[in-house]
Amino acid sequence: MSENVPANVPGPGIVPGSVRIFDTTLRDGEQAPGAGLTVAEKIEVARQLVRLNVDVIEAGFPASSPGEFEAVAQIARETRGVAVAGLARCKDGDPQRAVEALRAAERPHLHVFIASSDIHLKHKLRISRDEALLAAAKWVAYGRKALGPDAEIEFSAEDATRTDLDFLMKIYEAAVDAGASTLNIPDTVGYAIPAEFGQLVHQVVDRFGSAATISVHCHNDLGLATSNTLAALQNGARQLEVCVNGLGERAGNASLEEVVMGIKTRPTQFPNLATRVATEQITPASRLVSYLTGFTVQPNKAIVGGNAFAHESGIHQDGVIKNPLTYEIMTPQSVGLSGSQLTIGKLSGRRGLREKLHSLGHDVDGEALDAVYAQVIALADAKKEVTDGDLLAIVEQRATDVPDTIRLQGWSVTSSHGGRAMGMISLSVLDQPRSVEATGNGPVDALYGAIDQALESVLGWKPILDEYEIKAVSAGEDAQGQVVVRVHRSTERAPAGDAFVATGHGLSTNIIEASVAAYLSGAEKLQTEAVAREAMIEEARASGQTPERVEKLP
Ligand code: KIV
Ligand code: ZN
Repeated sequence: MSENVPANVPGPGIVPGSVRIFDTTLRDGEQAPGAGLTVAEKIEVARQLVRLNVDVIEAGFPASSPGEFEAVAQIARETRGVAVAGLARCKDGDPQRAVEALRAAERPHLHVFIASSDIHLKHKLRISRDEALLAAAKWVAYGRKALGPDAEIEFSAEDATRTDLDFLMKIYEAAVDAGASTLNIPDTVGYAIPAEFGQLVHQVVDRFGSAATISVHCHNDLGLATSNTLAALQNGARQLEVCVNGLGERAGNASLEEVVMGIKTRPTQFPNLATRVATEQITPASRLVSYLTGFTVQPNKAIVGGNAFAHESGIHQDGVIKNPLTYEIMTPQSVGLSGSQLTIGKLSGRRGLREKLHSLGHDVDGEALDAVYAQVIALADAKKEVTDGDLLAIVEQRATDVPDTIRLQGWSVTSSHGGRAMGMISLSVLDQPRSVEATGNGPVDALYGAIDQALESVLGWKPILDEYEIKAVSAGEDAQGQVVVRVHRSTERAPAGDAFVATGHGLSTNIIEASVAAYLSGAEKLQTEAVAREAMIEEARASGQTPERVEKLP
């Protein structure tokens, strides 16, 4: 390759779509403790995944809760041009719920799994290998029959990398005979080392590659999820299961952006292979997922970290100015970092704002544009310069429309050195006005205490604050403060149990205002989720089902 050609420009012979990207941010990613998303938030992420052009969206695990079922069903109904997957255990009830949720999908993708390692069979499922084999065959066959010949039926042998090889081959054979079209090799506990994993994939591809697409699903417990995934690709895997920002339980899953940019940046290592991912949508996807889950991306995270394209040292800066190829193996623009110089201020028009937002990876039109525009102009009045960070924060703040059953009417607070703070809040909760005063250790504590009393008197529960985080979205004294909180309902078990944990956001140049807004938006999501859950449980009961919540998955 000529030294003036950026390494990430695909050469001739590269076949877009020859690698299937299966995104599991909404299923495995969302299982990360505290990363819980509401149905509306899941739909928002699904829309971004469509813009990102992934091949498969694993939307959730329908049997795990009524809310999860609804999220998968809605994503299946409204998503076009991409396959929608739902997960199911090989257990009576699960595959039926998943099939029901996927019915409306243009391209349904049923994902059934059962553990195959002796450790899991003996200690978790307490069944024999033969029983696991029968269950795998039974539920794959069920899925094939229920969804028809064109649907994708994926079978995963959970903990494959710690499974006896002969038995692994046997269970895959049973799955293929029963109609599986994809065989997934999960490294469930992130145990594999790349060369060894590559070899395992090679053996499965040799044996079943002509009958099914071979897929991999790597966890990051040893920090090797991306390496293992790329080694698998080099050994014939053609579906890669990944999460935006490497989200996922424990140390997470293989990161979508690392895997995709690895393939794009090193074409000679992956001859004729390319994903279809619109890589310039990577940064907006990363920001949205981070925003909605409240999981901050570490600054030195590959591809999407704040420092991924920052050059601090003089030698590096000098090199990059002379030729970016000296220290950049991919361009910031290729992953959606804005190269646009357009600045936005009081005198900017809607068109300029629209273009600017487009350059930041957000296409905003119509009423949504009007609303963002009004907010931007108000902000431009309050602070000297509206930065890219401000704009992104405003757009993200509007990412999900939550109903406003809890409306803020006003607040005031007094606080002094060494004394307790006194806060007063005026709210309307389900149209019932409440004005409450409370004291606290500081202004935020006092106001949160007052909000708690107001909510509890109407709803019968108050939010329990699990986390509170504040950051400036840009530099300068007049920067906007963004507050992110995690809350769960006082009537549910703590996050270590199965409580729904909502993430609330607030954005303002006044950090107390931002704190109040974040707490109320978290509470609003808890209320929405509670109402939806109640309605779905009622519906399930009315149709003779017993809604159950299942334990978390690996
Ligand atoms: O890690 C794992 O084994 C999983 C399976 C359900 C595919 O997430
Ligand atoms: Zn997993």
